[in-house]
Order: sequence, then structure tokens, then C-alpha cells
Amino acid sequence: EKDLLVLGIETSCDETAASVVKNGKEIISNIVASQIESHKRFGGVVPELASRHHVEEITIVIDEALEQANITMKDIDAIAVTEGPGLVGALLVGVNAAKALAFAHQIPLVGVHHIAGHIYANRLISELKFPLLSLVVSGGHTELIFMENHGSFQVIGETRDDAAGEAYDKVARTLQLPYPGGPHIDRLAHEGKPVIDLPRAWLEEGSYDFSFSGLKSAVINTLHNAEQRGEIISPEDLAASFQASVIEVLTEKTIRSAREYEVKQVLLAGGVAANKGLRASLTSAFERMPNVELVIPPLYLCTDNAAMIAAAGSILFEQGKRGGMEMNAHPGLDI
Ligand code: KG4
Ligand code: ZN
Repeated sequence: EKDLLVLGIETSCDETAASVVKNGKEIISNIVASQIESHKRFGGVVPELASRHHVEEITIVIDEALEQANITMKDIDAIAVTEGPGLVGALLVGVNAAKALAFAHQIPLVGVHHIAGHIYANRLISELKFPLLSLVVSGGHTELIFMENHGSFQVIGETRDDAAGEAYDKVARTLQLPYPGGPHIDRLAHEGKPVIDLPRAWLEEGSYDFSFSGLKSAVINTLHNAEQRGEIISPEDLAASFQASVIEVLTEKTIRSAREYEVKQVLLAGGVAANKGLRASLTSAFERMPNVELVIPPLYLCTDNAAMIAAAGSILFEQGKRGGMEMNAHPGLDI
């Protein structure tokens, strides 16, 4: 049978990305142009700046993805693009580039949910085994998603306030660390000890929901109170204590839901999946559950990229999903 070549395009936040993926599983090329350096001095992503960078980069990145794959648009069977959620102006750049290419070359178009992309990043390294559970932890999302089959997403738990990555970034900002703060907190945490008492938001008995804003406020208050008393708090210990609270709740709720839903596999997804502490904690927890396979993507597939969008788009394409010229950006799209 003929190979399926899908061009993926991702512009939902601050990475302009394009990738070619074969049969939904094999990365042929994967180009990511990061804007982090431009947003850093503002301490976060500036939407208007992001859109403008995407416009400047998008054709270059797509050309590079094709060139690296050693193919032209004629070889592409479908174009998969992130249609939401994300920044509306940023998403529009990718959606319009995808529509223009699809129209000019008469190639089918598929809209992809950004979180489905993060989950399907796992299919680029491992065969998916259903039923499965995915812990999605990124700058905008913290969700436990149950999947009975390809393309079916059931949210069984989600954050009621801040996303995990958002909490990392806010705590990092309080500690005057550069944006994005997650990797910096992660590094500091490994140099400190979790000796500062911080809350864990378990919520109601049996709930798989999360909450991180109380924890974030507790970190800020701890720093503030110490300052007023003229005491010095070790940033390493504070980072370690914050990270311990986040990881303990994420790990525990993932284990409990994996047991309840009797899944064969647990997939880690999203930018916070790059966290060393979280990877280690889940790995050791699932070593004690040998009937469940834990899959953790390599770092370059955890943060935003277009290979994951092409991977998710390939499944949707095979299931018959098609987008038309009316496709639009959906900043608040539900999975
Ligand atoms: O998935 P992603 O690249 O973009 C979104 O879709 O949000 O995730 C970005 C988030 C940021 O909040 C960043 O601080 C966090 O992932 N992050 C980390 C680490 N690396 C990235 N958080 C904790 N530890 C890390 N090592
Ligand atoms: Zn993302």
C-alpha cells in the first residue's frame, strides 16, 4: 500500500512549526522556529508579536520541512493544521497558510486540536494501546484524558484554575527567573530540598480535577512573609517544595485514574512533560504497576511542534475528517 505523507503546521502559541510525517508514525522532517527570545523581555508571550513572527516565518518553515524531507507539495497527501485552542491571531496564520496550500495544490485539509496533537506525539515513538489515559500538562492545559480508541477523547479531570505550566511560569517570575520558567524551576528544584511546607490540592474525594492557583499563592506568600521578617529563603528549596507539590498530585491522580479505568497505557503529553522530576516520579510509580505501560516522549516532542499535529491529523484523515475553505481559528476549541 502507498505511504501516507502528511504535512503538519502548528502556530497556536510562540513556535512556528512544520513537519512531514509518514503513515502517522514516522518523522521525515520536523522544523520548529521558536520565538522565545523575542517574548523573553516581556516575561510572557505577547500575542500581537507572536502573530507577526508567525507571518514572517511560516513560509520559510514549511519550505524547510519539505526540503529536509526531500519532497515537494506534489508528494503531500494531506495538510494537517492546528485550528485551536490557542491565540487567535497566531492560529489564523497557520490556518490560512494551510488553506492557501490546500487550495493551490488541491490537497485535502484536516483541522487538528492542539491537545490531540500533544497526545499523538506519543505515537511517533510507540504503538498506542487502548484503552489508554493521557496526562496532558502544558502552559495552557492540565487534563487527564481517557481514550477508548483513536480520535475519542474523554476528559475525566482538568484544572479548575491555572494550568500546571502556567503555575511554573508564575512562580518562576516571582523568583525573577526568565520566561518560560518551567525549565529553570526544574533545574533549581534539583539543587534544593522540599523542606518548605506547601499545600497539595487533592479536591473532593475521587475527583481527578486539579488546582494550582492556591499553591502558586502559597509560594508567593511564603516569599513575601520571609521578606517582611528579614529572612532569606533559599530559592532552590522553594523551587523543590513547589515542584514536589505539583508532582505528587499529578502522579497520584494519574495512578488512581489509570487503575479505575483499567488502561493498558499511560501517555505523558505537553510542555511540562519535559519536567525531569515529573518524568522520574511517574516512571517509578508505574514500575510498581507492570500491567500498565508508561510512554514518555523525548523532550523535543513534549513542547510545541508540528510532527505531533501531523501525527494526530493522519489518524483524523484516515477516519475521513476533512476541513474546507471555511476552516477558521478557534481560540477556545474543546477537545
Ligand atoms: O506545550 P507547550 O510547549 O505550550 C503550550 O501548549 O502551552 O508548554 C509550555 C509550558 C510552559 O509553561 C513551560 O514553562 C513548561 O511548558 N515547561 C516546563 C518544563 N519545560 C517546559 N515546566 C516544567 N518543567 C520543565 N522542564
Ligand atoms: Zn502545546
